[in-house]
Amino acid sequence: MDFTVLTLFPELVREASGHSIFKRGLDQGLLNLHCVNIRDFAANKHNRADDYPYGGGCGMVMKAQPVYDAYRHARQRLGADRPPRVIFLTPAGRRLDQTIVQDLAREEALILLCGHYEGIDERVVEEIVTDEISIGDYILTGGELAALVLMDAVARLVPGVLGKEASFKDESFSANLLEYPQYTRPSEVLGRHVPDILLSGDHKAIDRWRGEQARIRTEARRPDLLG
Ligand code: ADE
Repeated sequence: MDFTVLTLFPELVREASGHSIFKRGLDQGLLNLHCVNIRDFAANKHNRADDYPYGGGCGMVMKAQPVYDAYRHARQRLGADRPPRVIFLTPAGRRLDQTIVQDLAREEALILLCGHYEGIDERVVEEIVTDEISIGDYILTGGELAALVLMDAVARLVPGVLGKEASFKDESFSANLLEYPQYTRPSEVLGRHVPDILLSGDHKAIDRWRGEQARIRTEARRPDLLG
């Protein structure tokens, strides 16, 4: 999976993705991350990527031209293949969920566009963006953290990235259920004991118990997932 991030803060994106499983995916060549600094494409002497909003109001708006030129640069690097999906991270987008993540994980390349200030000139959004996605009903200061959330969720579905840790079939949301509780050694912590069933060695009974726990949790915490 090839990720290109169009951003005013490439270092933030690079640093945050240089850890743990995402880093291993990069090192193994299963993932690729290319950050494009939109400011490098600001064609004015002060490298300004923003300007005042037409119609007045507070805050600044990201200019269309640097965003468009950064996008053209990204497209050139990716070559002449089928145009990749361009995802604009915005609180006004469709709310991200595991179904969307699974859909995006089928792509070979994704371009992620991170906004800042009060937004991006709508004309360049109309021109290049294929998907507008929000990571939740709250307002971040910019799209970078949202892009990182999306990339993390997509990356772990790329074959090989999770390696031995892969266990998609059991995990939260794959069957519209939250995950059952997990325990590891020792068998007693802070006066609390591991449920006996998990020590029984009876794998059928353990599977049944886990299924029940997943259903009980989902009913209590996220009944909306049960439909
Ligand atoms: N940019 C600012 N807030 C955001 C959010 N909640 N989701 C995605 N992008 C954003």
